[in-house]
Amino acid sequence: MQATFKSATLETIEASASVVFVDKKSADEKNVADAAELEECGFFKEGVESRYVGSSRTLYVKLKEFEAEEIKHAASKMCAALKDYSFESIKIASPVEASLFAPAFFEGATLGSYTFEKYKSEKSETKLNTLFIAKEGESEAKINALLAQSAIVSKNVNFVRDLVNSAPDDATPTEVAQIAANVAKELGFDCEIMDEEFLQKESMGAFLAVARASKHPPRLVKLSYKPKNGFENVKKVVLIGKGLTYDSGGLSLKPSDYMVTMKADKAGACAVIGAMAAAVELGLNVEIEGFLGLCENMIGGNAYKPDDVLVAKNSKTIEVRNTDAEGRLVLADVLCYAQESLKSSGFDYMIDMATLTGACVVALGEYTSGVMGHSEDFKTAILSCADKAGDLMAPLPFNKHLRKLIKSEIADIANCSSSRYGGAITAAMFLDEFVEEENKQKWVHLDIAGPAYVEKNWGYNPHGASGAPVRTIVEFLKSL
Ligand code: BES
Ligand code: ZN
Ligand code: ZN
Repeated sequence: MQATFKSATLETIEASASVVFVDKKSADEKNVADAAELEECGFFKEGVESRYVGSSRTLYVKLKEFEAEEIKHAASKMCAALKDYSFESIKIASPVEASLFAPAFFEGATLGSYTFEKYKSEKSETKLNTLFIAKEGESEAKINALLAQSAIVSKNVNFVRDLVNSAPDDATPTEVAQIAANVAKELGFDCEIMDEEFLQKESMGAFLAVARASKHPPRLVKLSYKPKNGFENVKKVVLIGKGLTYDSGGLSLKPSDYMVTMKADKAGACAVIGAMAAAVELGLNVEIEGFLGLCENMIGGNAYKPDDVLVAKNSKTIEVRNTDAEGRLVLADVLCYAQESLKSSGFDYMIDMATLTGACVVALGEYTSGVMGHSEDFKTAILSCADKAGDLMAPLPFNKHLRKLIKSEIADIANCSSSRYGGAITAAMFLDEFVEEENKQKWVHLDIAGPAYVEKNWGYNPHGASGAPVRTIVEFLKSL
């Protein structure tokens, strides 16, 4: 799908059909062209979202107001409504400033028309491929540049969706690592893939334990991007992703109903690849170091066990009380590795993203990610970027009482809490044990267990992977 902005009236543009977005006020007042036809086909009734008027070749779509998220959702409904028509192009007049309307409209259409058909024998056919947006008196160069940026972000969100949706026997640790390498090569940034032997050499005992029972060997991936014409004082951001290509729960096996969808336990790592790719394509003036902890949590005679005591890279000992709390074990070592390998050069921010806990989904619902960390300023910045980008996020606060719950009688720390409450926060506090003192204020943890993968459509997100939190990360990188 491509979009073009024209500084012109709608009448001068050639397209197969027109689209009009009708806000609540206009709908209430029935203040629309084709009002009589629309009345006849029930468009003004509550619950009706769109109607096509054949006589004027116009699709009408309702929205509450002309605000970014509403525009994206309406654009997505537009694509759904046009699926059965054979229009190749549509045109729409920007009802508000084009700098607000055009990028949101294009993003909503691109994200909203996404389908995952990799494993379908019959692929659906979509005719619609060109969107014209028009408004007189606004700069074509400026708005088309915004559309180009929007295209880069949406394309990478859809790329992440494809990867997260891919089956666990296709998207294995080695395969995801290879995909990261391919993306890096194509876009001209560095990618290093580390194998089991390397993890052993680096004493990453927690990561290795989780990976042990899988026939697919683990991979640690490091991605590095330095802007070509970077100015002085370029900020350096570290992105860390949980990449469990499958989480069966291990010996603390998940019940069948909870195991399905666990191919999506790699969503954090996939989001790191997508966010970096988008940042590089956008040419953002920021240094990025990405780390992916890729492995599979399986069962078998050599599986790690509840009661095992693991030694992480920073020499802390971990009592395993539940092998299904594996993401934090992998991240513990990856956090240590990232901080150690960047010790001499330093960094400004460190964000980890992980489908870490079911508890986060219980706390916030399946559409919202949890934001945790020590720095109120950093958390506030992330929340405001999420708001701007269209991801739902909410803060979950640490407290000293919850911290006691991950104490262990026999090791430095336990891998899960002694209480069933507050699990998203205690998981983040476990990670906190692997964040060095000097980096505490630079670190934010995103628990994306809810929105990364939802088994129904929501807004302009499809059934399955959403690509969260790529847009928030890109927005944050842009803000630096
Ligand atoms: N990958 C899961 C968390 C998850 C749950 C992601 C639902 C997406 C949807 C994680 O590894 C896990 O199993 N966590 C356990 C932790 C518990 C054993 C302390 C959980 O949330 O139940
Ligand atoms: Zn688990
Ligand atoms: Zn997991």
